[in-house]
Amino acid sequence: MKVGGAVRVPGDKSISHRALMFAAMARGTSHLGGVLPSLDVRGTARVLRQLGAVITPLRGEHAVRVKGRGRLLPSEGTLNCGNSGTTARLLLGLLAAHRFRATLTGDSSLRRRPMARVTAPLGLMGARIDARGDGLPLDITGGRLHGIRYELPVSSAQLKSALLLAAAAGGVDLGVREPAGRSRDHTERLLRAFGYTVLERDGWIEFVASGRVVPFELQVPGDISSAAFMLGAALLAEGGALRVVGVGVNPTRTGVLTVLARMGAEIALEPTGSELDEPVADLDVRPSLLRGTIVAAAEIPGLIDEVPLLAVLASRASGPSVFRDVGELRVKESNRLELIAANLRAVGAAAEVRGEDLWVAGDAPIPRGRVRTDGDHRLAMAFAVLGTVAGARVAVDDMACVAVSFPGFEALLRSLAVRGGR
Ligand code: S3P
Repeated sequence: MKVGGAVRVPGDKSISHRALMFAAMARGTSHLGGVLPSLDVRGTARVLRQLGAVITPLRGEHAVRVKGRGRLLPSEGTLNCGNSGTTARLLLGLLAAHRFRATLTGDSSLRRRPMARVTAPLGLMGARIDARGDGLPLDITGGRLHGIRYELPVSSAQLKSALLLAAAAGGVDLGVREPAGRSRDHTERLLRAFGYTVLERDGWIEFVASGRVVPFELQVPGDISSAAFMLGAALLAEGGALRVVGVGVNPTRTGVLTVLARMGAEIALEPTGSELDEPVADLDVRPSLLRGTIVAAAEIPGLIDEVPLLAVLASRASGPSVFRDVGELRVKESNRLELIAANLRAVGAAAEVRGEDLWVAGDAPIPRGRVRTDGDHRLAMAFAVLGTVAGARVAVDDMACVAVSFPGFEALLRSLAVRGGR
């Protein structure tokens, strides 16, 4: 296909979750625009409503008004976080600082995902956790918290943010350190906007409970993790050019652009402004001949959600690619690591999990075959992008799951070709 014109992707998922949570913590009315209208973010809004926030959708551009009560209120019912790890983990952080008992659960995928990595440090801070195993469902009873210094077992923005939210809501200082590479720092940026001191020193994030969460206004930028799929489709196209407008380009999220540039992708970034310290840009992309690359372990946290897309692009590149130390992908919405490799093989490419690394041979034949997603949205979208290659026949078993992060994905992907002509 040929691509053409300009597209806008929906709002950033990570920022949407956080904005709703901070607005629920504030006492008074916040106005948010561009909030991602996906199942995951709707799930966050649903549980925050159960906890006392009044969240009202407004007309136009996914605007919402959030009336927070300055704290969360006890909920009678179980808090169902659906498919969303971010909802569950960040909410656990907030609840740790509230003196009532709450029960969290999720769908069958989320119930399998590890929670002890969050609940252990929250327990050290003073919350009480009642869990049967490592996952959901679990009960949490918040309490008076104390500050801790804690080295996370994995670099994870969800874990880091859970502890930061607990510290902010509980009014205590915190030191937290990630083992390898920096994960996304949206929580830190928002906390700074509320007057908290958040410093980085010798690999530690030092949080000082010096601020206060107050009502705010925010226009959520487009999600670079969603934009990546449009960039990928344009890179594989046979001609034309595409502009993706209004994309959040926080440097802890742009690892995908760095790696694509190394692979030979022609992508230019044009800054257009910023929203509460989150830089925004338009991205111009042209179809490009790609070459394989090695993605270092320290780069992974900055592109953790883009590995499926990068892996399918690597199969179309010349020469092999290696993604180092991606074991964390085993505990995403699916066993994403094994499924990336298995699905690449299912469509005729060579790929293997080698220990904690993912290896993808380049120079694959035209992709043809059936893809199994286990309901994982990013696998569905990555392989749908691969299916746009001329002559490809890629059947993805479940496209409905894309609604958790990118409603309208299929229509937008199809529109790229329509804009560009055949
Ligand atoms: C997210 C963090 C990432 C990412 C997820 C969203 C966030 O998870 O995979 O889609 O909003 O903090 P980890 O931080 O657990 O790697």
